[in-house]
Amino acid sequence: CGIVGYIGELDSKEILLKGLEKLEYRGYDSAGIAVRNADGVTIFKEKGRIADLRKAVEDDVHSKTGIGHTRWATHGVPNQLNAHPHQSESGRYTLVHNGVIENYHLLQKEYLPGVEMKSDTDTEVIVQLLEKFSQDGKTTSEAFRHTLSLLHGSYAIALLDSEEAQTIYVAKNKSPLLVGLGDDFNVVASDAMAMIQVTNEYVELHDQEMVIVKKESVEIQKLDGTVVERESYTAELDMSDIEKGMYPHYMLKEIDEQPAVMRKIIQAYQNEQGKLEIEEGILTALNNADRLYIIAAGTSYHAGLVGKEYFEKIAGIPVEVHISSEFGYNMPLLSEKPLFMFITQSGETADSRQVLVKIKKLGHPTLTVTNVKGSTLSREADYTLLLHAGPEIAVASTKAYTAQIAVLALTAAVAAEKAGHPIDFDIVQELGIVANAVQAMVDSKEEMEKIARDFLSTTRNAFFIGRNLDFCVSMEGALKLKEISYIQAEGFAGGELKHGTIALIEDGTPIFALATQKAVSLNIRGNVKEVVARGANPCIIAMEGMEEEGDTLVLPKVHPLLTPLVSVIPLQLISYYAALHRDCDVDKPRNLAKSVTVE
Ligand code: G6P
Repeated sequence: CGIVGYIGELDSKEILLKGLEKLEYRGYDSAGIAVRNADGVTIFKEKGRIADLRKAVEDDVHSKTGIGHTRWATHGVPNQLNAHPHQSESGRYTLVHNGVIENYHLLQKEYLPGVEMKSDTDTEVIVQLLEKFSQDGKTTSEAFRHTLSLLHGSYAIALLDSEEAQTIYVAKNKSPLLVGLGDDFNVVASDAMAMIQVTNEYVELHDQEMVIVKKESVEIQKLDGTVVERESYTAELDMSDIEKGMYPHYMLKEIDEQPAVMRKIIQAYQNEQGKLEIEEGILTALNNADRLYIIAAGTSYHAGLVGKEYFEKIAGIPVEVHISSEFGYNMPLLSEKPLFMFITQSGETADSRQVLVKIKKLGHPTLTVTNVKGSTLSREADYTLLLHAGPEIAVASTKAYTAQIAVLALTAAVAAEKAGHPIDFDIVQELGIVANAVQAMVDSKEEMEKIARDFLSTTRNAFFIGRNLDFCVSMEGALKLKEISYIQAEGFAGGELKHGTIALIEDGTPIFALATQKAVSLNIRGNVKEVVARGANPCIIAMEGMEEEGDTLVLPKVHPLLTPLVSVIPLQLISYYAALHRDCDVDKPRNLAKSVTVE
């Protein structure tokens, strides 16, 4: 979910709606705004997209203060009733909330026995508690602080009090939230992208802080009421970074940006003499570690699997890769000197963050690899490596995945050199070759569209196989396809076919087989033969020099360790076109959100 708020001199509803449009990637099954004017607080909310909300907002309601929300449902189905904002029984308090209140049932039972809830959400408990405590004689600030002190879980909250026109109350714990500063106005938002249209000056909030936001002032307080002073910073974001421009979809734009991102990463990690440079502390942490634990979710987890190969083969550091949601509750026995690396595009994924919090308590060193400077995981880890991929807006990750792999490769290479056993190839030169190969792939869109049409237009499922590094990419290819086209897809190790999945092969079942690794090229071709004998329709994607007659696509040759950066591009494009052919919403697939800030 994402939240916004505005207090100033302009008509707030347009600013809120524009902000929500930029936050839509965080969830989009319902949305709402509340605006305050002399007539009190007016709420508009709708099931569906921001576009649906926009239609429902009445033009003749004008207001200089308001809050808004776009939802990714956790408690309660996505409908108008459960959409935010929520209001207290008397209508005095109205709020929007991103996060999950774990103890809402207990709070409801203990403090609100006679209150009839209008929605099925955990959020409504917050607003009803506020009303209860204010009726008990507390001021709004006191009631808010008291309510917050009772909440277990995550929240970013913006609150309106109908008896106090000049204030938005804000609070944060675990869910991201920023305050944006302007001349004669102030804003709040889950991320800077939402409000970059009005300001690029922001103040970070920390967990368990409350803020009193007025048109001309912002006061941050801890939950005990002490005031906190904090400097603002300038967000380095450009409107053009977050617009689609000529592209029909963000996903296609982001796929196309990958060669440029590759070059940008090389530049960003080179010093003035052209030598690769990684922060000294990170290199020391890597080389002091007896084991690297990579923690990530979704696409970032798949990049982590490739990263394991790099740190083990290039830098000689043993690596384990873990899915963050599993690691949190099922911690393996740790080595003596572990280093934890969190790979996260957004830097906000709650599953990953809960591991970071645990690991910090244990006192182990931590490093976040992220695309978002200043994000929660970046701030909270000891070190950060930035991806330099520019904002990624399509829900399905593309350029962040390749950026993660490139940054991991560079880091492993520099760590190896620092440890005194440099690699035997020039990684900068090899990544330059990769950038050109990626360019050739993104320039072959017609071919990818044809493959999508030939292999995926009528199928209900598809399989992706590979061995070694190709296995890692197979999983990412399957994830891309299922995320955006809803074709059931599975990626797995070629050798595993015969141990189960081969039972699913029918006449015409598409199999995407990757063959970029010389050592296992014959084995993967053997697997293809096994499925073809059972009627499968194989799409073989081979690297130049390893191709055979009848292969569907030949990838330009790159260094064998760097093939994932190239082989994933056709899979991204094929998924894109498969989704288009099926009239799916490419950038905002159903049920998903880009940044999942709940566990
Ligand atoms: C969500 C997104 C995925 C993403 C995953 C991890 O589920 O839909 O595309 O890979 O979160 O996100 P992160 O920001 O931590 O990389």
